[in-house]
Amino acid sequence: MNRRFLPTGAQRAALSLIKSGAKHILLFGGARSGKTTILVLALIFRSLRYPGSRHLVCRLRLKDARSSVLHETMIPWLNRIIGTKLYKLNRHDNYISLYNGSEIWIGGLGDKEQVDRILGHEYNTIYFNEVSQISYHAVTTAYSRLAMKIPGCKNLFLYDCNPASPLHWSYRVFIRKIDFKTDTPIVRPEMYESMLINPEDNRTNLAEDYIEDVLEILPEKQKARFRYGQWVKGEGCIYDRFTEEMIIAPDDLPEMEYYTGGQDFGLNIAGVKIGYHEDKIYVVKDHGGHNITTKTFNDQLTRKGWFEDDFPVYCDPAGGERIQEITGGIKANNAVDSGLDYINSLIERERFYISSECSGVLSEIWDYSRDEDDKIIKINDHYMDALRYAIFSPVQQGIIIG
Ligand SMILES: Nc1ncnc2c1ncn2[C@@H]1O[C@H](COP(=O)(O)OP(=O)(O)OP(=O)(O)O)[C@@H](O)[C@H]1O
Ligand SMILES: [Mg+2]
Repeated sequence: MNRRFLPTGAQRAALSLIKSGAKHILLFGGARSGKTTILVLALIFRSLRYPGSRHLVCRLRLKDARSSVLHETMIPWLNRIIGTKLYKLNRHDNYISLYNGSEIWIGGLGDKEQVDRILGHEYNTIYFNEVSQISYHAVTTAYSRLAMKIPGCKNLFLYDCNPASPLHWSYRVFIRKIDFKTDTPIVRPEMYESMLINPEDNRTNLAEDYIEDVLEILPEKQKARFRYGQWVKGEGCIYDRFTEEMIIAPDDLPEMEYYTGGQDFGLNIAGVKIGYHEDKIYVVKDHGGHNITTKTFNDQLTRKGWFEDDFPVYCDPAGGERIQEITGGIKANNAVDSGLDYINSLIERERFYISSECSGVLSEIWDYSRDEDDKIIKINDHYMDALRYAIFSPVQQGIIIG
């Protein structure tokens, strides 16, 4: 059995980056380029090097973390490196305990029980796998858990992804080094490092025909992402006419004539506040919460001064009794296709703007897409639903002439 791990040249460079002193390290690039392997190996090395340490690997969904990280990568490499006897997989709890007291946990940031379970511990490393699917909010929720103290061990956040849209939070934070919340330059940019790693770099470990026969013949946009690791707007993007020029600074917002709100419920609760001025509409505020009650969320909005203006808040009609807990809450119109068409027509006519403060809406709008069967991909769509409720419900009810 091959007990040695031989990193590719790019993986060697990634290891240097991990040791460079940066706190956040993103590996992005094409498919099967060795990103997950090297980050999992880094986690294994760290757990062996620092007895009693704890590390977390998370994805949006636990089942994906289990299949693509735990079973395809982590366990085979652990078996090769330390054999099968020096660690134990605790299946029920989804963590691995090593002979030296270290632990590696696996979790999903999009599942409620999962979040409670994994965020109940402290870690030395948190590795976010495939961040193109994870919202900025979910990632930052986990940040406070990187708090375990082990002498000599510098705690790290690791990330990987196939590149998403150039306006995805990961591109803004890691490549442009812009704070996603405030839209200003990141205060300590040296803490954020990233590296492009492509299938070409991993050619020796791939099936002979994979690059030429699979990646090379993908449709243009997919080829750009999966063969060359480029940040491009996704196929099937719903608001694909939305551009960066439609993002405006809060100080440049006009005086609004009136407002409406939109509210989505769930593990990721999200609300938006829309202002209207002449024939233009402006997303002026958004707010999200993770795993909190409707009442707590509404209290937060109140404290933020949302309700100083009196306005209707159109809520997810499936919200039932929760609707009453939102100030001004009433049932939204949930006609999906006509709602999306309406917002798209506003975008096309340059009547739609988003305040740069609205990090929730801005983290979703670029990748809000349909799949090959034309179905909306129900990932990171909470602000998108809230947006549609807020804008389209009043149009339908005839209160506002669009
Ligand atoms: N240093 C290595 N030695 C042997 N095999 C490797 C090495 N690095 C990667 N591989 C193999 O290459 C394949 C792709 O690696 P990996 O899953 O890490 O890529 P990835 O960039 O995370 O891919 P994706 O974009 O699909 O998530 C896997 O089969 C993995 O086992
Ligand atoms: Mg991977």
